[in-house]
Amino acid sequence: MAHTPKVVITGASSGIGRATAVTLHAAGWDVVAIARRGDELERLADELGHERIETVTLDVRDGDAVRRLRAVVGVPDALVNSAGGARGLERADAAQWDDWQWMIETNVLGLVRLTHLFLPDMVARGSGTIVNVGSVAGEFPYPGGNVYGATKAFVRQFTLNLRADLAGTGVRVTDVEPGMVGNTDFSRARFGGDEARAQAVYEGMTPLRPEDVAEVIAFVLSRPAHVVINTISLMPSDQGFGPFHVVRRSEDVRASS
Ligand SMILES: NC(=O)c1ccc[n+]([C@@H]2O[C@H](COP(=O)([O-])OP(=O)(O)OC[C@H]3O[C@@H](n4cnc5c(N)ncnc54)[C@H](OP(=O)(O)O)[C@@H]3O)[C@@H](O)[C@H]2O)c1
Repeated sequence: MAHTPKVVITGASSGIGRATAVTLHAAGWDVVAIARRGDELERLADELGHERIETVTLDVRDGDAVRRLRAVVGVPDALVNSAGGARGLERADAAQWDDWQWMIETNVLGLVRLTHLFLPDMVARGSGTIVNVGSVAGEFPYPGGNVYGATKAFVRQFTLNLRADLAGTGVRVTDVEPGMVGNTDFSRARFGGDEARAQAVYEGMTPLRPEDVAEVIAFVLSRPAHVVINTISLMPSDQGFGPFHVVRRSEDVRASS
């Protein structure tokens, strides 16, 4: 009988993680969907007909709960680390400590914890793919990005360092780095549930859809075993790069420049 590959997806209750669950399920994968909102996971399982879908309500910041996953899940063929997000957009000196702590604990420690859990068994088996959902914010700073950008730079560098360790083991690691993705809870969560502020982020432009990112993740996972994609960056075509920000200290300087 043909082997049915199994993928563990964190952040599967909304946005990119959820779309990845739907896309990979359609491609024939067994899906283990993880997030904190059990009701949203249940909706996903309903949508997928309760076939080849297992849901685990779990906070990736909870070390004991994550450790228990190993016995439940076994050794997956792939791990997609999508759980995460941004909290706040204040200048660094006005940022809330709780927001900074949340982003580091979720985007960095949560992702590292899941990776640490499954990696030894993947290496022992000689196969497996880990896809980390980073961000263009990990490469390009923007005002108010501060700790969010830094957590995503960590994700990128962690991915590349894993590649350095894992070459030749049969275990592949990829950082998928999207720009603006609409139809997610990302901006709503960043702005503490302020729907109007969240909507304004995507006003007058067409952001990526979660499905666009899911298709890239499916592409990464469907490469033959001898191919690994280190990093892959994608943006909506309405998004680009800004000029360097320069602070002019006086009107005189401003006038003469
Ligand atoms: N949207 C964008 O513009 C964008 C751009 C680049 C990168 N990204 C990255 O893409 C990833 C997915 O974000 P998204 O855009 O799809 O936003 P989203 O809709 O808010 O999805 C975030 C997911 O992470 C889960 N999550 C958050 N904290 C968790 C925790 N402690 N334990 C378990 N699950 C947790 C959420 O589920 P629960 O609340 O149910 O736990 C949700 O399923 C994030 O890492 C984000 O940084 C997003």
